Amino acid sequence: MLPAKVKIVEVGPRDGLQNEKEFVATDIKIELVNRLANAGFQNVESVSFVSPKWVPQMADAAAVMAGIERRPGTIYSALTPNLRGFEAALDAKADEIVIFGAASEAFSQKNINCSIAESIARFEPVAKAAKEAGLRLRASISCALGCPYQGDVPIDAVVDVVQRMKALGCDEIDIADTIGVGTAGRTREVMAAVSKVFPRERLSGHFHDTYGQAVANIYASLQEGIEIFHASVAGLGGCPYAKGATGNVATEDVIFMLNGLGIETGVDLDQLVDIGDFISRAIGKPSASRVGRALLAKKRDGLAACV
Ligand code: HMG
Ligand code: MG
Repeated sequence: MLPAKVKIVEVGPRDGLQNEKEFVATDIKIELVNRLANAGFQNVESVSFVSPKWVPQMADAAAVMAGIERRPGTIYSALTPNLRGFEAALDAKADEIVIFGAASEAFSQKNINCSIAESIARFEPVAKAAKEAGLRLRASISCALGCPYQGDVPIDAVVDVVQRMKALGCDEIDIADTIGVGTAGRTREVMAAVSKVFPRERLSGHFHDTYGQAVANIYASLQEGIEIFHASVAGLGGCPYAKGATGNVATEDVIFMLNGLGIETGVDLDQLVDIGDFISRAIGKPSASRVGRALLAKKRDGLAACV
């Protein structure tokens, strides 16, 4: 049986924008976060406090966090690779700290410049400090379904990192398909395996849509009882350390599927389509969401879109 309700974490402002080459103005980022929270997302991944040399687009993270209106009950998350990032996130009053590791050694080196074991040692004080500050702690595990450098990633390697993140006291753990190579059968296997070592209601699916498999992978995860998914409005994004990877699955496409299944999300699709249009215009790129494009055309012309 599929869940009656799921939580969608909107990651567009962070995962989506981080890969944009042109700097996106701080007030656009602020408006994006505000509009997403108003559209009903319980959780908006808003910024990352990382080295601006590594990800220049996130250099204004503190200003973004200072500028947003806090909607009561909304969780505004920030990625933090180390204690320095954590302290910045604490100052910025982030509600949730996200540590990010990988199931592949090669990706760990490229993304955060250390081995998996070193990353866990680096996350330990961050996790401790987050708990002491009473903040939610989430961990993201990249390359859980494949790695751009190493290729196949064994399921045991994913389970091993989940166990290490669990030992750090994470409230939620993301199983991330960084380069979108996962297919439905493999996704079910991975979700089934990790559910044996971490409560499934606190696991999430974070699927990039490079190969067009993300919606199918979400459906496969729903069949495994997963109730939290990440998505990016207009399908924004990609990872700067995974060349060729496109953005996360478009949130509009996910909400459309979930609405069709009668699964509650609390997100207003009509508002979301307008937000997708706003941010696509702001960055000067067409929306990657098929649902977004179709519904926008319908709204504008009162006609079914033929795209
Ligand atoms: P490093 O070079 O090994 O570390 O980078 P370092 O300690 O030598 O620091 C290098 C410089 O960065 C120094 O500055 C530090 O002060 C500064 P310099 O002395 O050269 O002027 N620095 C910082 N500045 C601001 N905030 C900080 C910070 N820490 C150090 N927190 C480091 C190691 C982890 C810092 C670096 O590799 C980094 O920032 N990596 C971030 C990469 C990243 O953001 N990737 C994208 C997010 S993950 C993702 O998208 C995947 C996900 O979506 C899931 C999926 O799809 O797979 C989550
Ligand atoms: Mg990602």
